Amino acid sequence: MAERGGLRNFEKKEIFEKKERRRTCFHDREREIEEIMNILNTEPTLITFIYGPINSGKTELIDHLAEQLPENYVVFNVNLRGKFISDYRDFVRALFKIEREKTYKDIIRKISEVSVKALKFVGIPVTEDILNLLFKERTYEDVFEFLEDYFMKIGENKNSVLILDELQVIKDVKVDELLKLFNFFIRLTKELHLCHVFAITSDSLFVERIYREAMLQGRCRYLFVDDFDYETAMAFLNKYNFGEKEREMVWEYVGGKPVYLVELANAKMNGKDIEEEVKKLLKIRTNQILSIFDEISLRKVKYSEEAIMEEFRKFEREEIIQYDRMNKEKIFLVERNILFIDPTQRTVKPQSKLDLLAIRNVLKCERKK
Ligand SMILES: Nc1ncnc2c1ncn2[C@@H]1O[C@H](COP(=O)(O)OP(=O)(O)OP(=O)(O)O)[C@@H](O)[C@H]1O
Ligand SMILES: [Mg+2]
Repeated sequence: MAERGGLRNFEKKEIFEKKERRRTCFHDREREIEEIMNILNTEPTLITFIYGPINSGKTELIDHLAEQLPENYVVFNVNLRGKFISDYRDFVRALFKIEREKTYKDIIRKISEVSVKALKFVGIPVTEDILNLLFKERTYEDVFEFLEDYFMKIGENKNSVLILDELQVIKDVKVDELLKLFNFFIRLTKELHLCHVFAITSDSLFVERIYREAMLQGRCRYLFVDDFDYETAMAFLNKYNFGEKEREMVWEYVGGKPVYLVELANAKMNGKDIEEEVKKLLKIRTNQILSIFDEISLRKVKYSEEAIMEEFRKFEREEIIQYDRMNKEKIFLVERNILFIDPTQRTVKPQSKLDLLAIRNVLKCERKK
């Protein structure tokens, strides 16, 4: 029956179907999926850090994979985005999710026995009483002890996968507490083989800090998720009927950054002019980068224009460079999400092809002055 003042059911269905038709579907990532599946098919031994430039598709990849896992897996996919974690209480609040109707026994039974395609949770399900207790205890050791027991119980029937997306939000936690957390991950993986642990981040300075951390040496692996390569990007654009000239133009402007490819695929479906769209994107990014120099003039940023330009000049001809030493200006540009560093290779590159072209535009503006 039609709802008063609202949409009729068939109208809703039509809108939903139209939306579905316009939604881009998950594309490729075969190599990365294979690599992660190989990890999941063996006993947990190392913490896996998934890192890569912003908007390269890390979250999409792991969410997609979580959907595909068979029934002997249970996934706790905790996305810390937007959460503020500075101490133990924040961490507990972010990690767990209250299941109001169930007892602790019911929760464990459900996770262990229900046989649907991999069970997925956006937080580790516990009862309100348990959460209150964990809050009261106020030490990381208590929560770790509880979790060890939790994963041990589930482990009799299922393989647990703990995903912590946007892990960099914990970077403000005190160093000794951060190390306790990593120590716990090591215990879950290398020592007890209880749970696969994936830590995801696009904050390359945070990855750099982890990479330097002596305690983690030999106890974790690094999996790089970059923007699509040329073939993958072309195959994506092909699906949305881009002509050859358009495909090349898109690659020229935005490279294989999935978020832009999706945006342009939507523009294409809406009949927009692709050349205009990519040029618009570049103009916006160039202006965003130029605004840094306004901040320098207004003394909101302590670095000199010349020192920033010097960093940009390195990309006049190169797309990626090797670094000997980090400097303050590079760190600033990484913080501003203009550059991306890969500590495992000691390389720096712009966050995307669009950033590279925007940097080159800024250099052109300088030369015209
Ligand atoms: N394999 C893919 N197939 C189709 N679309 C994708 C794919 N990967 C990413 N996308 C698109 O790109 C957008 C950005 O991806 P996602 O949020 O996963 O990136 P991310 O690397 O996690 O970003 P962040 O650095 O902000 O954490 C998604 O919303 C989705 O629209
Ligand atoms: Mg993400």
